[in-house]
Amino acid sequence: MRLFTFGTNRTTDGAFRGRAPYACLAAILAALLLAAFEKSAGAGEPDIVYARGTLGAWADPDGAGKPFAKLFVATRLRVIERRGGWLRVETRGWNREGAERVVYAFPGKRILTVALRRAETGRLNALDSIVDPETEITWNGVALEGWIEDRGVTPNLATIWEAAWDLFATRCTVCHQRRIPHHYTANQWVSLLKVMGPRTGLPKERQRLILTYLQHHARDTAGETKP
Ligand code: HEC
Repeated sequence: MRLFTFGTNRTTDGAFRGRAPYACLAAILAALLLAAFEKSAGAGEPDIVYARGTLGAWADPDGAGKPFAKLFVATRLRVIERRGGWLRVETRGWNREGAERVVYAFPGKRILTVALRRAETGRLNALDSIVDPETEITWNGVALEGWIEDRGVTPNLATIWEAAWDLFATRCTVCHQRRIPHHYTANQWVSLLKVMGPRTGLPKERQRLILTYLQHHARDTAGETKP
């Protein structure tokens, strides 16, 4: 009886021990799968950079000939490939029928991201379109790919905004108090900077940086900007 009990226990125990390696293996497999999944999720995460200033975009990573487009400061770029000092990037934005060469960050908000050379609009890939209910204008979502020099970008948008804020806080306060970015819309800032920009005496590129900063922190855009 005792032996039998012992035997039964041993059998149970043995069966248990027999399963243990499988349970263990399953746990290891699960851990490995999870690790692999996390790794692939990490690799699949978009590699995002931002234009530090006006950049040229080329069809090939050699800078030969004229760029087919200009990309403007703070334009969000997804890196597809890195080769030498070059990056193949994709940017997405919005343009209007009849004015396809000019691409903006948001529909109806004139935050310039791309200007294509004439006859280069065929490089734009059409995404979805929307109709602005206020103006009844159709805005077309577009994607554009090209090669840019990697020294022209930063992964850190905050450094671009810090530089812009410094200029805004020092150069736009010479004649009056510092204005509040979100007191005006992104499009109002375009008109305002046409007049105020040149008053700073700064080069055009610096004026554009201030404008872009103000537009991304305007009444109708703050919060839409992806960090
Ligand atoms: C050389 C002086 C000067 C500088 C520099 C200057 N402003 Fe002005 N700003 C003015 C004057 C004067 C006005 C009053 C309105 C006008 O001139 O039309 C004004 C008005 C404004 C207004 C109010 C406009 C309105 O109609 O509500 C805003 C906003 C503004 N400036 C923003 C800026 C920004 C941003 C900069 C920097 C890029 C800047 N200003 C640089 C002189 C200046």
